[in-house]
Amino acid sequence: SQGQTKSINHLQTDFSRNAPVLQRLDRSMSSVTVPPPACLLRPLEAPLRYLFGPGPSNVPPRVLAAGGRPIIGHLHPEMYGIMNDIKKGIQYAFQTENKMTISMSGSGHAAMECAVFNAVEPGESVLVAVNGIWGERVAEIAERMGELLLLFSKEDPYDSIESNDIFFAVEKHKPVLFFLTHGESSAGLCHPMDGIGDICRKHNCLFLVDTVASLGAAPIYMDKQSIDILYTGSQKALNAPPGTAPISFNERACQKMFNRKTKPVSYLFDMTHLSNYWGCDGKPARAYHHTGPVSGFFALRESLAILAETGLEESWRKHKEVSGYLQRGLEDLGLKLFIPERDLRLPSVTTIAIPEGYDWREMLVYIMKNHQMEMTGGLGPSIGMVMRIGLMGYNCEKTNADMALQALADALKNCKKTRG
Ligand SMILES: Cc1ncc(COP(=O)(O)O)c(C=O)c1O
Repeated sequence: SQGQTKSINHLQTDFSRNAPVLQRLDRSMSSVTVPPPACLLRPLEAPLRYLFGPGPSNVPPRVLAAGGRPIIGHLHPEMYGIMNDIKKGIQYAFQTENKMTISMSGSGHAAMECAVFNAVEPGESVLVAVNGIWGERVAEIAERMGELLLLFSKEDPYDSIESNDIFFAVEKHKPVLFFLTHGESSAGLCHPMDGIGDICRKHNCLFLVDTVASLGAAPIYMDKQSIDILYTGSQKALNAPPGTAPISFNERACQKMFNRKTKPVSYLFDMTHLSNYWGCDGKPARAYHHTGPVSGFFALRESLAILAETGLEESWRKHKEVSGYLQRGLEDLGLKLFIPERDLRLPSVTTIAIPEGYDWREMLVYIMKNHQMEMTGGLGPSIGMVMRIGLMGYNCEKTNADMALQALADALKNCKKTRG
C-alpha cells in the first residue's frame, strides 16, 4: 500500500548505511522469485599467483592500468585512433605490411575460427598438421566446413613435420588451406617455418599459422615467410589479459575470402564486417558491427607498446636465454625435457616428461599450495605425459626460473612416490 511504501522509503533514508536490513526489507516487497546470490554480496577475491603455466601469464601493472582506464565509446574517433595503433603494433609483432590486420574481440579460438570460416567454403579441403592439441582443435573446426586431411610427423606424434612431407601432401591433396602451429604449447614444440609458405604458394594453397603461444617469444616473419594468415592471442608473451586475438590476412588470403560464393558461417567473425569495423576496407565510414571490448583493446595497445619499446629481437633473445637457463636447471634436477632437440623447444613453454614414480597432479597441487605458483600438466594428447612451465613476457626472468626450479625441487622432495 501507499503507507507501506512510504515507511520503506523512510527506512531507506534512515538505514541507508545498513545494507543487510535494507535488503531484507526490500526482498519482502520484491516481485523477483530468485534472490540475489549471497556470493555476489561479498567482495571479489582474486588471489595473487605466479602464473608460470602456459598462459594466461601475469600482466604487468602498466597493462593492468591501461585496461582499468575509463571506458570510451567503441565508435568514438579516439577509439578508432587506438584501434589504428593496435593495427600498427600487430603489423610490427607479425612483421607484416598487410592492411587487413585487426584484433578479434575474443580469445585465440576466435581468431582460429575467423581464419577457417573466412578462408574456406563448404566442401573445400583443408590440410592440418597435427603435433599436439592445436592441430586437433583446428581439425575439429575445419571439419565443420569441408573435407579434412590430417598430416602427422612420421617419427613421433609430437615432432616437427618434414618439409618434404608437407610438399607431397599439398601436391597430392591440393587443399585450399594448410594449417600449422608455430608454438605447439601442448608439446612444447617450436615448429620451423622456413620454406613452407613457398610450398603452399606454389600449389595455390593458403598457409595459416597459429602463434598464440609463440608470438614475441620466438621469431616469426609473416611477410618474409610467405604466411597468408597469421593469428595470436593476447594472454601469453604479449602479456595482456585474455580476450583479444590479433589476426592478419595478406593479399592472397583477401582475394580468396572476399571472392567467396557463400557467406561465412559466422556473422560475428565475417571479415567483410570486421574489415570495415577496423577501417581496413578503404571505405570512408566505419559502421557498427559489434561492441568491441574497449578495456581489452586499451590493454592490448599497451602490451603492444611494451613490445615496440623492448624490440622484437630483444624479446626473442630474452625468451631464448631464460628458457635455456630454465632447461639447464631442470636437467640439473634430474628431470628429462620432453622435446629432445634443443632447437625445436618452444622458448615460452617448456615441457618436462613426468618424472618416473611421481603423480604429476599431486606435484602440481603441492606447488600451487606451497608456492602459490601455477604450473600445469599436459593438454589434450599430452595429458599424463608432460608438465608445463611457461615463463613469458613479463614473467620471462631468470629470477622467476629460479623460483620455479625451487618449487619443483621442493615438490620432488616432498611428493611421495606412488609408483615404481
Ligand atoms: C598454440 C595455441 N593456440 C591456440 C590457443 C587457444 O587460445 P585461447 O585459449 O586464447 O582461445 C592456445 C591456448 O593456450 C595455444 O597455446
